[in-house]
Formats: sequence, C-alpha cells, structure tokens
Amino acid sequence: MSWKRTVLVTGGAGFIGSHVVRLMVNKYPDYRIVNLDKLTYAGNLKNLTDVESAANYVFVKADVRDTEALKKVFEDYEVTDVIHLAAESHVDRSIEGPMEFVLTNVVGTVNLLQQAKESWGEGEHVFHHVSTDEVYGSLGEEGLFEETTSYDPRSPYSASKASSDHFVRAYYHTYGLPIKISNCSNNYGSHHFPEKLIPLMINNIVNKKPLPVYGKGENIRDWLWVNDHASAIDTIFHNGRVGEAYNVGGLNEWTNIDLVRYLCRLLDKKLGRAEGESEELVTFVTDRAGHDMRYAIDATKIEQELKWKPSVTFEEGLESTVDWYLENTEWIDEVTSGEYRAYYEEMYQNR
Ligand code: NAD
Ligand code: TYD
Repeated sequence: MSWKRTVLVTGGAGFIGSHVVRLMVNKYPDYRIVNLDKLTYAGNLKNLTDVESAANYVFVKADVRDTEALKKVFEDYEVTDVIHLAAESHVDRSIEGPMEFVLTNVVGTVNLLQQAKESWGEGEHVFHHVSTDEVYGSLGEEGLFEETTSYDPRSPYSASKASSDHFVRAYYHTYGLPIKISNCSNNYGSHHFPEKLIPLMINNIVNKKPLPVYGKGENIRDWLWVNDHASAIDTIFHNGRVGEAYNVGGLNEWTNIDLVRYLCRLLDKKLGRAEGESEELVTFVTDRAGHDMRYAIDATKIEQELKWKPSVTFEEGLESTVDWYLENTEWIDEVTSGEYRAYYEEMYQNR
C-alpha cells in the first residue's frame, strides 16, 4: 500500500503519545503511523494494545539520541512528517538528575530536527514539536500565558523544554524546516504514569496511603483532558500555520489542595466510603525546590484561528479518568511494580 503520509510519532508509548498514536491510527487509515519510543520507565506498549495490530501502525524501539537509528527509520519508512513527544517529562526527576533531561529533551530534539532537515527535500512536510506551558515560567495571581509571553523557565525540566523549543524555531528560521509548536497546560487522563499529581493521588486514595501535598497546596495548575490535547495536536498538525506556536489549555485552574480534596470526595462516593474518609489521608510535605506558583493558558489563538476547543468539562474528564483507574487495576499494578518491562522482553527478545 502506498501511504498518503508516514507520520513518525516519537514517545508514542507514553501518556500523551499513546493518545496521539491512537487518534492518528484510527482517524487516518491512509497514513502510516510509526511510533518510535525508547521505552523508558514511562513508556509502556500496553498503552497501545488496541491499535498494535492495525495495518497502518508500526512500533520501533529506538532512542531519539541515536543518529543512526533515526536515519534508518527515516529511510526504511520514508517518513514525511514528525510529531515529537519523546521526552523526560517529570519535574521532580529533573530536580534529582537534570542531565538525562538535557540529553533526551535537548540533544534528542536537535538530533531529530537534523534528521528531518537531511531527509526532507521539496514537498509537503510538518515537524510538530509538542511542548509545555512551563517554558513561560511562573505566574502571579493575575494574567495568562500568551504565545508572545517571554520564555522564563525555572525548573531543569522546563529549561530543557524551552531549549528544545528554541532549537525548533532555529531550524525554521535558519534552514526553513516546516515546524509547528504547541505549548500545552497540565494534562490528565487514562494511562497517566502515577508519578504525576492526579494518578498518584488516585492510586494512593484507593490504597489508603498518605496523600503528599507539596508545601501548602496553594500552587495552581490549569488542567486539560489528554484526549483534548491529542485533538489539539491533530488540529495544529493539519491546519496550523508553519512557523507558528499555539498555546493549548482549557481555562481550568485549580489549587492542588482543592483538586486533591475533590478527588477524595469523588473516590469516597465511588468506593462506598464514608464522606471525608479519604481526606484524612492528606499530608502536607516539604515543598518542591523552585516550585512554580501558577500556570494558566490563554488559548484564544487556537480557539479562534483553528476552531479547536475542549470537548469535556473537568468534572466529566476527571470522572472518566477515575473510572479508568478503578477498572484498570492490572495496568497500575504492573506499572508500579515494573512488570511491564518483562512483558516487553517477552514480546521482543527474539526479533
Ligand atoms: P511521558 O513521560 O508519559 O512519556 C514520554 C515518552 O517518551 C515515553 O514513552 C518514553 O519511553 C519516551 N522517551 C523518553 N526518552 C526517550 C528517548 N530518549 N528516545 C525515545 N523515546 C523516549 O510524557 P508525557 O506526559 O506523555 O509527555 C509527552 C510530551 O508532551 C513531552 O514532550 C512533554 O514535555 C509534553 N507535555 C506534557 C504535558 C503533561 O502534562 N504531561 C503537558 C504539556 C506538554
Ligand atoms: P505534576 O503532576 O508533577 O506536574 P507539574 O509539576 O509539571 O505541574 O505536579 C502538579 C502539581 O502538583 C505541582 O504543583 C506539584 C504538585 N504535587 C504535589 O503536591 N504532590 C505530589 O506528590 C506531586 C507529584 C505533585
């Protein structure tokens, strides 16, 4: 079969990447979707069991830092487009060990940009770089991040993502690579690794473990359902203007403590516990170093120019997320015990 496009999705076995892969495989049967992922602790092929045998889906285990591997994938599959999500994504881990973030998020991104530049001649191509609102730094009580807001990253994670964004723009301005960038707020949804706030709290509530809220819990995040982020990426990839960045968010700001308490109430109901039972698990712990106070996105540009908007309210998205975790205990048990690596070895050791 000759494919209309071959889209290389990096980091497709991760949280957001798996939702992007699923959307693309199902919505565009005439595209070949090549998922390139190193399968770090955050990558899990079980996130994609429903699409793994689709005719237009291919998985390649590789590291975005590996120049030869990228060259081979571009050649073998005649890659026409890239949606780049592969990254080290957790702020707390970046505080413990920044170098892995530099190597994957910065060096890996430049490696991929260079490969696209060398492989693509004339013709229609898109290099869509998936980034975060954390590159803009931390807000006070007022204001929203706009696309024109100056970069002011403060954690090693956000500094590495900001650096990668700059390189993506540099490849556009210097070499004319057809890039697009999206900067999204915090995501939540199914298949979210339980190191991040929402899945960690759901897991701990279910298991009656302490709920570690950093500092006073007053920091604010702007939450978006992961499927709405995937639909925004689809929209920008197809209809966004080359060379442009788009902020993605749902005007949905919550203090951490209010959000944790909301999850406690929701789970008390779902688990048939007494009202207020889970809230007693809340434990205030030492704050994160350099903890950004508030993130909030102005998504006017994507809403007006590309007619994208979130499809669910936070309450709807959160309930479906909680239900997913309650129904997929095997997934969370395996992820937390590391057993999914054994699954991978069994699947791939003889290939
Ligand atoms: P994740 O940590 O769940 O997944 C990252 C994926 O990248 C994993 O599958 C991992 O195996 C893979 N990976 C890591 N290093 C690699 C390497 N060197 N080579 C190949 N693959 C590698 O992350 P996520 O939350 O799904 O985030 C995906 C992207 O979206 C990241 O670029 C992140 O910065 C960005 N983003 C995330 C959020 C959020 O709320 N999670 C918000 C905005 C933007
Ligand atoms: P996180 O999910 O790590 O995302 P990010 O740091 O990229 O925004 O954290 C979201 C917020 O929740 C952040 O303000 C830190 C806080 N937090 C806790 O209070 N306790 C926790 O155990 C975690 C993981 C996060």
